Amino acid sequence: MSLRGELQERFRAAIRSVAAEGGIALDDAEVPAMVALVREAADAKFGDYSATMAMQLAKRAKKPPRDVAAAIIRRLDVSDLCEAVGEPVGPGFINLRIRDDVLASKLALAAAGGRVGVEPVANPETIVIDFSSPNVAKPMHVGHIRSTVIGDALARILKFRGHNTITDNHLGDWGTQFGMILWGWKRCRDDAAFEADPTAELGRLYRLVRKVADAKPEELAADPLAAKLAAAHPDCGREVLAETARLHEGDPENVALWKRFMPICLAEIERVYRRLGVTFDHVLGESFYQPLLAGVVEDLLARGIAEESRGAIGVFLGGPDKPPMLVRKADGAFLYATTDLATIRWRLEHWKPDRILYVVDHRQSQHFDQLFATASKAGYGVAARDGGGGVELVHVAFGTVLGEDGRPFKTRAGDTVGLDALLDEGVARAYEVVTAADVERGTGMSEEERRRIAEAVGIGAIKYADLSQNRTTDYVFSFDKMLELKGNTAAYMQYAVARVEGIFAKGGIDRAAVRRDAGGIAFTDPRERALAMKLLRFGETLEDVEADDRPNLLTGWLFDVAGAYSTFYDALPVLKAEGAERATRLALCDLTGQVLRQGLELLGIRVPERM
Ligand code: ARG
Repeated sequence: MSLRGELQERFRAAIRSVAAEGGIALDDAEVPAMVALVREAADAKFGDYSATMAMQLAKRAKKPPRDVAAAIIRRLDVSDLCEAVGEPVGPGFINLRIRDDVLASKLALAAAGGRVGVEPVANPETIVIDFSSPNVAKPMHVGHIRSTVIGDALARILKFRGHNTITDNHLGDWGTQFGMILWGWKRCRDDAAFEADPTAELGRLYRLVRKVADAKPEELAADPLAAKLAAAHPDCGREVLAETARLHEGDPENVALWKRFMPICLAEIERVYRRLGVTFDHVLGESFYQPLLAGVVEDLLARGIAEESRGAIGVFLGGPDKPPMLVRKADGAFLYATTDLATIRWRLEHWKPDRILYVVDHRQSQHFDQLFATASKAGYGVAARDGGGGVELVHVAFGTVLGEDGRPFKTRAGDTVGLDALLDEGVARAYEVVTAADVERGTGMSEEERRRIAEAVGIGAIKYADLSQNRTTDYVFSFDKMLELKGNTAAYMQYAVARVEGIFAKGGIDRAAVRRDAGGIAFTDPRERALAMKLLRFGETLEDVEADDRPNLLTGWLFDVAGAYSTFYDALPVLKAEGAERATRLALCDLTGQVLRQGLELLGIRVPERM
C-alpha cells in the first residue's frame, strides 16, 4: 500500500470511532469520501499530507470543525509513521509529517525491491482496454494518436499496478471505407501502382472515391480526376453504400477483395504501431462480430428491450421522446451500436472483465452513453463506476488535436495530417535538436547514434506532449514546444534520466552495491528529504491515474520529481560527499533514475542510453 493509503486506513479507523462516539451513523459512501480527503499537502511547509475531512464530519456532528478535527487527532494512531500531530490548523486541517526514519527505510526498500516502491493492488481486476481502433483502409492520421498513446499508457500503468489487462484493437474493418475502395477498385484502379505499392494505391483509391462520393464543389475543383469521375457517376454515394451492403451480405467478389485488402491495411497500421512501440493482446475488429449481430437484435427483441419503430429496430432509453439507439435499420443493415453490443456480450462471455475502458474521441460520448444505458437495460451486468458487482463500462474520452492556429490540426493544403508524416517530422526535428546539443556539449556522437536517439526523442516528444495534457481538453500540437529541452517535455525527462544515471558511470559506482547499502540512509539536508518524499509518491500517483484514467497526473509527478532532483543535485555534492551523506545521496540518485525510467516506460516512452 502507498504511504497515503496507509494513512487513509488510519483515518478510516479514527473517523469511525469519532462518529460512533458522537452517535453519527455514516453510510457506506460517506466514509470512503472522507478518507479520500487525506492528500498531499498543498504546500510542503504544512507537512507531507493534509486531511480535511473534519469539515465534512463536523456538518454531520453539528459541532465546530476544529473540535471535530481535534477529536480525530485524539483517535488517530499514526505514531509509527508520522511525527507527533500538532493542533488542527485554520478551519480544521490536520497536517502530517512523515518521520525521517520511516522515509529512509521506505526509500531503501523502494530502491532494492524492483518495483520502485509501488505495491501491487490488493484486489486485481480484469480490465479490457479498447483503444486505437482505427478505421482501416484509410491512412492513419493525427486523430489516431490520442487513443493509441493514451490507451497504451493506461494499459501499461494498470498492468504495472497488478491488474490483469487485456488490450484489444477494435478495428473498424467493415465500414463504408471498404465500399469506397471496392467502388474505386472496380472502376479506376492502377494495377501497376498496386503492384508497386499496394498500400499507397488503396490509400489513393480511398481518398479519390471519398471526394467523388461527397461531391463537394470546392474539393472537386481542386482535383480534376475526381471531378471527371463525379460527372460520370453522379450516383457514386449510393453505389458506394451498395458495395458495402454487398460485402456485408457475403457477395463472393466483394468478400474476396476484402480478404485481399485486409492484410495490406493491417501491414500499414502495424508499421505505425511498431514505430510507436505499441502492441495489442487482441485485434478483434468489427468484422469479427458480424456473425453475432442478428442474434443480438433477436435477443433484444425477444426480451422486449428493443422495439420496432418505422421499420427499424431500436432500444428506447429514457422515454419515447428521447431518440432510441438503433440496432437495425429499416433496410436490414446493422449499425456501429449493434457491433458494440455484440462486442460487450462476447467480451463478457470470454474474458469476464470487471471493467472495460473505451479510449475514444469525446465526439462519441453520446454513442457510449446510449451503449452503456442499453447494455445495462439489457442486463449485461453493468455496474456504476464505484462497483456494485457488474462490469464497469467507462468511456475514456479525449479532446481534439488542434493546430497552432487553434483549429483542428490540418496540413497547409487542408488535409488531415498523416500519422506517418507526423512521426517523420518529429524525428527529423529531434535529429536537429540532438545534433545541436551534441555540438554544444562536445559529446562527439556518431551519426548513427544521433539518428537512434532522434527516433526515441522525436516519437517520445509526440507521445509525451499528448499524455501530459488533461485528456478531456483539446490540445495544441506544436513541434517547437514538445521538443524543448527545458520544461515538461519528453526530451527534458529523457535527458534527466541520462544525467542521473551518468553519475554512476562517472564515479565508477556499482548501483547494485548502492542498493545493498541503502540501509544507512540518513537525511542531513531538507532537499534530500524533499526528494525522498517526492519519490515515494509513485504509488499514490498511479492510484490517482487509475481513479480517473488520467496519464497526465503521472507526467506531472515525473516532472516534479525531476524538479526536486535538480534542486537537490544543484545544491549538494554527491560524488564528492563522504560517509553516510554520500551513501544517502547515491541512494537518492539511484532511486530517481529508476523512478524516471519506470515512469517513462509506463508512458510508453523509450529512454536512450545517453543524450
Ligand atoms: N473505429 C472507431 C472510430 O474510428 C472507434 C472504435 C472505438 N471502439 C469501440 N468499441 N467503439 O471512430
